[in-house]
Amino acid sequence: MTIPTTFPLTWCRDQFPGLRRTVAKHPVAFFDGPGGSQVPQRVIDAVGHYMAHTNANRGGQYPTAVESDQLLESAHATVAALLGTPHPESIVFGANMTTLTFALSRALSRTWQPGDEILVTRLDHDANVTPWVLAARDAGATVRYVEFHRADCTLDLDDFRSKLSAKTRLVAVGCASNIVGTVNPVQEICREAQAAGAQVFLDAVHYAPHSLPDVTEWNCDWLACSAYKFFGPHVGVLYGRPERLKSLSPYKLRPVTESLPGRWMTGTQNFEGIAGAKAAVDYLADLGRQVVTASATNASHATAPAVATLRATLQRGYHAIGDYERQLAELLLSGLSQIPGLKILGLTDLGRLQERTPTVSFVHDRLSAIQIAETLGRSGLFVGHGNFYALQLTEFFGLEPQGVVRVGLMHYNTVEEVARLLESLKKLVSFADA
Ligand SMILES: Cc1ncc(COP(=O)(O)O)c(C=O)c1O
Repeated sequence: MTIPTTFPLTWCRDQFPGLRRTVAKHPVAFFDGPGGSQVPQRVIDAVGHYMAHTNANRGGQYPTAVESDQLLESAHATVAALLGTPHPESIVFGANMTTLTFALSRALSRTWQPGDEILVTRLDHDANVTPWVLAARDAGATVRYVEFHRADCTLDLDDFRSKLSAKTRLVAVGCASNIVGTVNPVQEICREAQAAGAQVFLDAVHYAPHSLPDVTEWNCDWLACSAYKFFGPHVGVLYGRPERLKSLSPYKLRPVTESLPGRWMTGTQNFEGIAGAKAAVDYLADLGRQVVTASATNASHATAPAVATLRATLQRGYHAIGDYERQLAELLLSGLSQIPGLKILGLTDLGRLQERTPTVSFVHDRLSAIQIAETLGRSGLFVGHGNFYALQLTEFFGLEPQGVVRVGLMHYNTVEEVARLLESLKKLVSFADA
């Protein structure tokens, strides 16, 4: 299968030095992106450059400290563009999504009381479940679980509506499932939750490498993601509506500043990681510029826009990523569905690829997930196995403790890699059948 696209695949792959790795002379195909993506060279350079040339703490009157302040300022603005807010001060950096969510849950739960209700879902990563369960327990509030449809692993919106009420204080939901790839209708969920008087916390960790978040259009109260999933280093990001960040009391050392985002950033920042996170967004924007160039070359008289804003170039880049990834996903899903004994969890309808990311999990009726992952790994096909902390889902399907095999495609994957994976799986299953 050749993919007719202007997607700048060669340019993209050239950016990622990790893709050159081999295992037993096999080139490695990284299908483990949902656990952590590969990073472009510019991210590695940004981290190294900070450590070599700018290493300092904030607030000093000497060049390295001033440059550290400037770096933070520009990283807030760049990540704000990624999340779709005109407010750089609404971006909080931290260790990772889990830590930021725990910190926020503790602060939010001080505003809850017995009788209040918190909605979480059975489709989410545990980092968007347990922090709320523990915070609700501390406040004496009740947690209710929104179910999903067994057949296609889409969220049960009727169940959500039946559980949403004037008692609901918070709805915590993922933008996309990190195990079955389902993309949730978060704009609709935000609208309905807020009409009922509840706040909404969105987990965009799995969504952000595949689609561009839009906190303004979605009108969410909170959103968290992690740079190491969108081609950056291990840094967490929290967005909060400025008025919420101002009015809620953080757990913070003295003196607690009123100004944002400092009010919510605790301890000394991971400056080098933040420099890398900014470089990851710059890479995604550059990908958008490549798309402009590619289509301008292909189409007669096409002209690239003179000055595209960062958000606009990101939109272009993500649009191309989405188109390309859906073509890979189609190939993967149709190939997997022809392998005997293998069962895919989640959406398999090729007409509904817009409703899922290219993250596909499956089980086999005789081979365990770990057996499959180990065998593939030996020939350079890196797939994940287990529950990936999407515990509500694996428990629901009775898949604990063995879990599933997860193939997570990213825009740096290729048709040839997917074909190689399918071929190896077919062989593996036919040996098992023999
Ligand atoms: C959907 C989702 N949410 C949350 C997390 C936790 O993110 P972090 O590792 O930044 O705490 C992950 C990590 O895999 C994830 O996939």
